[in-house]
Amino acid sequence: MNTKLLQTVAALSLLAGVAVAGEDATLIINDEETMVTEAAAPAHAENLDRIYSGWVFRADETQVLQMDDFDNPAFVFTDQGQDLYDTVDGTAGESCANCHGDVDSFAGLTAQMPRVNSDGELETLTELVNNCRTERMGAEAWKYSASQMTAVTALIGLQSRGMPVDVAIDGAAAPYWERGKELYYTRVGQLDMSCSNCHEDNYDVMIRADHLSQGQTNGFPTYRLKNAKLNSRHGRFKGCMKNIRATPFKEGGDEFKALELYVASRGNGLSVETPSVRN
Ligand code: HEC
Ligand code: HEC
Repeated sequence: MNTKLLQTVAALSLLAGVAVAGEDATLIINDEETMVTEAAAPAHAENLDRIYSGWVFRADETQVLQMDDFDNPAFVFTDQGQDLYDTVDGTAGESCANCHGDVDSFAGLTAQMPRVNSDGELETLTELVNNCRTERMGAEAWKYSASQMTAVTALIGLQSRGMPVDVAIDGAAAPYWERGKELYYTRVGQLDMSCSNCHEDNYDVMIRADHLSQGQTNGFPTYRLKNAKLNSRHGRFKGCMKNIRATPFKEGGDEFKALELYVASRGNGLSVETPSVRN
């Protein structure tokens, strides 16, 4: 990764004079795939008129990294995800590929996650992957935001890139969505703030050196320049809670799963950008 990142940074300084991005820019990946980074807000996102991908708020040089898969540092990790996908692990002697074939069979899945299963339980993509590992492969579960897990979920997410986020919030999903919404608007921590205080009331505002976005999750797992790795949704939620000096909920726990559903639903209509690049 490091070599590639250095090359990318070097390439960027050469690009410095070329205005290719910016707040009104269009995200076109590899010169061919146009992403929806702005859309009318879904009716259930009551306090928003328009929704915006986090990409819109990033600095030009960060935006550019996501416009070409060769420059996008996340692809080192999706390549690792592909290796993991093809490799036998566990007592059953199986690999993901043995049962699922080409990973493109997962096209569309990430756009609809998280979702409620036939037992009425809310499940995340991470849980589905771990379920196959423990129940079908005889392998150990990966930690919720382990590098293997973010690599494989980013690879699966990439198969939905360009498709609109479309999570279901009605029927059996409704109580989870309500819980997520409640959490989104609840003030917590020493700074006594809610997610909405920043990502709804103040998006597009500078908070220290950071340009606040709507906190959308359509790009996750996302590569962050800050820690040079893929970051999970729950990892990001945790970081935001720590920043307001709140005790974060547990990754993979009921609160973050409900929040994941609610936050995803606020982005219904934006393109899946996985794997995105953020600062
Ligand atoms: C022994 C066979 C087997 C192996 C190995 C296996 N899976 Fe599965 N997986 C299944 C079956 C069966 C299902 C449930 C039916 C379905 O959705 O295909 C499933 C479901 C899934 C789903 C949900 C798909 C959906 O559309 O609902 C995901 C995601 C998934 N597996 C990922 C993986 C990953 C990643 C690996 C490797 C770490 C893996 N699986 C290994 C058999 C397997
Ligand atoms: C004090 C302000 C603040 C609060 C409160 C806050 N965040 Fe954030 N959040 C940020 C900043 C700053 C960033 C980085 C810049 C950006 O993308 O907005 C960020 C980024 C994010 C991102 C990444 C967006 C992307 O495009 O990659 C998500 C998702 C997110 N926050 C969700 C949440 C959730 C959920 C909560 C409530 C548990 C929350 N945030 C609370 C300040 C905040």
